[in-house]
Amino acid sequence: MPVITADNLTKVFRVQQKEPGVLGAVKALFKPHHKEKTAVHDVSFSIEPGEIVGYIGVNGAGKSTTIKMLTGILQPTAGQIRVLGRDPHRERVANAQKIGVVFGQRTQLWWDLALIESLNMVARIYEVPPARYKELLAQFAETLDLGELLSVPIRSMSLGQKMRAELAATLIHEPEIVYLDEPTIGLDLLVKERIRAFIKEQNREKGTTIILTTHDLGDIEELCQRVMIIDSGKLIYDGPLAVIKDRFGKYREISFETAGSTSSRQTVSYNTLTPPAASEIVNHEDRRLVVRFDRTQTSASKVAAAIMNQIEVLDFSLAEPDLSMVVKQIYQGALQEDGASER
Ligand SMILES: Nc1ncnc2c1ncn2[C@@H]1O[C@H](COP(=O)(O)OP(=O)(O)OP(=O)(O)O)[C@@H](O)[C@H]1O
Ligand SMILES: [Mg+2]
Repeated sequence: MPVITADNLTKVFRVQQKEPGVLGAVKALFKPHHKEKTAVHDVSFSIEPGEIVGYIGVNGAGKSTTIKMLTGILQPTAGQIRVLGRDPHRERVANAQKIGVVFGQRTQLWWDLALIESLNMVARIYEVPPARYKELLAQFAETLDLGELLSVPIRSMSLGQKMRAELAATLIHEPEIVYLDEPTIGLDLLVKERIRAFIKEQNREKGTTIILTTHDLGDIEELCQRVMIIDSGKLIYDGPLAVIKDRFGKYREISFETAGSTSSRQTVSYNTLTPPAASEIVNHEDRRLVVRFDRTQTSASKVAAAIMNQIEVLDFSLAEPDLSMVVKQIYQGALQEDGASER
């Protein structure tokens, strides 16, 4: 049974148009002129318990608008949402008990309270049993490294500290579904790693369902098996991460460890090496050669054989397709050209 279903979800915003200048402002006051903006257009999907789904797309694609509808903050213009059997907008209070939301761009905590006071408040509001609260607090303090932060007021925390605090407060009532809207935005690599580890742990240990929007493909690689891609309000892909990587990772790279070196008297100089068909040498240094090939035109084994014919190779490995290249291709319209979305 899915925990979330969205059927033909659409959100249209009415935005007031205004001509520039004072006159424009006055005109708009008397005769407002509206324009409609479809932020989310006929989107359908369903999510099973325990999934971690990455929701990606360029700026303005409609990710946050979708999340706001799923959490009940916004009412859809058309379509239906069911979250744990409820309409999240109409049954907001009941829905709120079961979910957690983090918006990376702003904090929901009490600005002047020390973190521990905030957590105590949240635990009381959600009626977390005291013994359970104590356990969770110890667990979160450990994974999120909150120890020294507990006595610090939110207002004096750094961005990374605030985000760790935010996650703790959001998950202390053990919600079944957690929506994370850019939880790692602006954070350094170590804090990102900590946050990813925490998300994984919650998912693994409690089966928490997680919907994650992000521009950081590292988050996706690390956490999600499934991705949904939204483009101009439309869902253009919904399926396994591995499939898009495979289908759109047009270029692959093979690294060779070679016996000879260009600088020594040894055998072949890389400079005289002829790249095999549909491939190019992207990097060569002492004892290492990287060849990129178009996998729609040739294969790893053909490329490897052609290289090994020319120089002595000790070892070689095929690199995983680079997700950022794949996603760039998709954002640039590769899916439409391909004519096949996985819906
Ligand atoms: N309250 C609103 N009123 C009018 N238009 C809005 C409103 N909220 C969002 N939009 C518009 O809807 C579209 C989708 O916005 P949304 O915030 O969902 O994008 P996003 O995918 O989250 O982008 P980002 O990656 O920049 O966070 C944008 O064109 C945005 O300007
Ligand atoms: Mg957004």
